Amino acid sequence: MIGGVWRWLMLAPAGIFVTYVAVRGISESYDNEGFPEALAVKLEALPVIFPVHMVTGGAALLLIPLVLYLRGTRWHRLVGRIAAVDIAIAGVTAIPVALVLPVTNMSAAGFAAQGLVWITLLACGIWSIRRRRLFAHRAAMLMMAAVTSGAVFFRVYLGLWKMVGVPRHFETFYALDAWIAWGLPLVATATWLHLHALRRHVS
Ligand code: HEM
Repeated sequence: MIGGVWRWLMLAPAGIFVTYVAVRGISESYDNEGFPEALAVKLEALPVIFPVHMVTGGAALLLIPLVLYLRGTRWHRLVGRIAAVDIAIAGVTAIPVALVLPVTNMSAAGFAAQGLVWITLLACGIWSIRRRRLFAHRAAMLMMAAVTSGAVFFRVYLGLWKMVGVPRHFETFYALDAWIAWGLPLVATATWLHLHALRRHVS
């Protein structure tokens, strides 16, 4: 009981923050007056694709935790299908958003790689559950969720940089952020899944 309370106390701030990023992402699709120049030019070049990415990306942040929460219920399948369509749209639209007028080529490559890995893991998750491979499905979807968390970590690191970073190194920081924001959670999750699988194999 106490353990459950502590778990919720720790998860609640993360949940509130993720919801904030999601709602902000969706609202920025139409309320983007305060966009920095680097994003405003992208919006001008991609007036439909970029807002579609923001709405579907924001929705993905809400849908993915919901699908995970609904595991073991009949709703998991229905909400999972809605989330899969949403992620496919958010992932495909992320590629042109990444490549058009990028801040640096390295940041563009990082975002494009994130989008491709995101869609690939989604496809692996769908492929494995169609073949009733539950363990592979779970692993692919947890890694896909880890890549999604990159959208949140990206903004956390950006916020920290704005507080303590050196402005003239912004481009280097931005390129690094575009890779590590999703790369670190993905490596951590893959390692955890690997160790977990090894332990299951030994016991
Ligand atoms: C996981 C795969 C994702 C990829 C590859 C991706 C890619 C991108 C790229 C390349 C940009 C433009 C930034 C730039 O080039 O400097 C962008 C902006 C944006 N994305 Fe995503 N994105 C992803 C997921 C998400 C998610 C889950 C959200 C939910 C909030 C989201 C919401 C936004 C928003 C609101 C912007 C515009 C302004 C901002 O940076 O806040 N994206 N995304």
